[in-house]
Amino acid sequence: MPTRFLTLDDIELRGKRVLLRADLNVPVKDGVVTDATRIERLAPTIEKLIAKGAAVVVMSHFGRPKGAPEPKLSLRPVLAPLRRALGGREIAFAEDCIGEKAERVVGALRPGQVVLLENLRFHPGEEANSLDFARALAALGEVYVDDAFSAAHRAHASIAALAQLLPAAAGKLMEAELDALSAALEHPARPVVALVGGAKVSTKLDLLRFVIGKVDVLAIGGAMANTLLFAQDIAVGRSLCERDMAESARQLLSLAAERKCRVILPEDAVVAGELAAGVASQTVAIGTVADDMMILDIGPRTVAVIAAALDEARTLVWNGPLGAFETPPFDEGTTAVAIKIAELTRAGRLRSVAGGGDTVAALAAAGLTDDLSYVSTAGGAFLEWLEGRELPGVAALAAAAHRG
Ligand code: 3PG
Ligand code: MG
Repeated sequence: MPTRFLTLDDIELRGKRVLLRADLNVPVKDGVVTDATRIERLAPTIEKLIAKGAAVVVMSHFGRPKGAPEPKLSLRPVLAPLRRALGGREIAFAEDCIGEKAERVVGALRPGQVVLLENLRFHPGEEANSLDFARALAALGEVYVDDAFSAAHRAHASIAALAQLLPAAAGKLMEAELDALSAALEHPARPVVALVGGAKVSTKLDLLRFVIGKVDVLAIGGAMANTLLFAQDIAVGRSLCERDMAESARQLLSLAAERKCRVILPEDAVVAGELAAGVASQTVAIGTVADDMMILDIGPRTVAVIAAALDEARTLVWNGPLGAFETPPFDEGTTAVAIKIAELTRAGRLRSVAGGGDTVAALAAAGLTDDLSYVSTAGGAFLEWLEGRELPGVAALAAAAHRG
């Protein structure tokens, strides 16, 4: 997968107006941003653009409006945390991302100043990847910088079409994401372990197939492991399980055998009669799950098997929690494995890369986010990358680099 792209050091920025595609699609509750991680990870790119003498026009989508303005999906609530992330710097706001309102605010911008444009998805041209809409955006600046890895799986105008119209480079966050991801799967230190969890095999079939061809060990947890166990005639009681996926699950296991990828499945499990906080639970060996019980987490023996594989590994890629981690005590397996990963990473023995909304939430809940080598800001884009797919945002930057 060629991921050659220009960076901020490769293009002329002094005195330029830079259109910066960010992903400010952050969680907001009652008009207040509840997790500013994406904003904080964007800030160094803005600082660097300013230091290089550019004026910065920040653009992003927010939520999923249907191509028309929706007051609840305004980007305004992002202004205050963005200002904080930039050390209190003033930021202008344009009530539209194209046209007269945008041009007026952007036209007044001087080098070193920053403006945030209103939600790109208030216009249907954004998601349609319309060239006309991209032209209207391009009219606002002279250089395009894409720092939105987490939206790189969307072939939208501000990500794909726009990159064809202006000199285009990756921002610092985009660069860091691509470097971390390619170091983990394209030319990793071996052995490589992939840790994959989550509820459903059906949503991760492509991911599992791709990963099996790339890694030495695949450890599977979460409810998706139940489907793989069921496919081998192992009783899973009332556990979440995709019975209609049994054949696909068996195909995955034979693919793994063919590709000499060792698969680790749960050997024991924490089970309970229902999924509820603090419910009575017990640890049982796989194969002995009673008919009225649900598997809700991996057990300590499984944690030990995964930990032993990690001890041997040099690289880890992780997506998906290993149990029903939002509901204690079923977070314990995920947390125990996360602690092991953090220890090995801190000791310099493992390069660890994690991504996906639930995985990031589980790491944050365990207070371990900063202990991994790299935690991606991306959800869907991280998954598509793990499926081996070409991301439109990355392809657009590569094409721009080719163009020179
Ligand atoms: C995300 O939050 O995963 C990205 O911003 C993409 O958002 P979308 O799924 O609405 O395109
Ligand atoms: Mg999403």
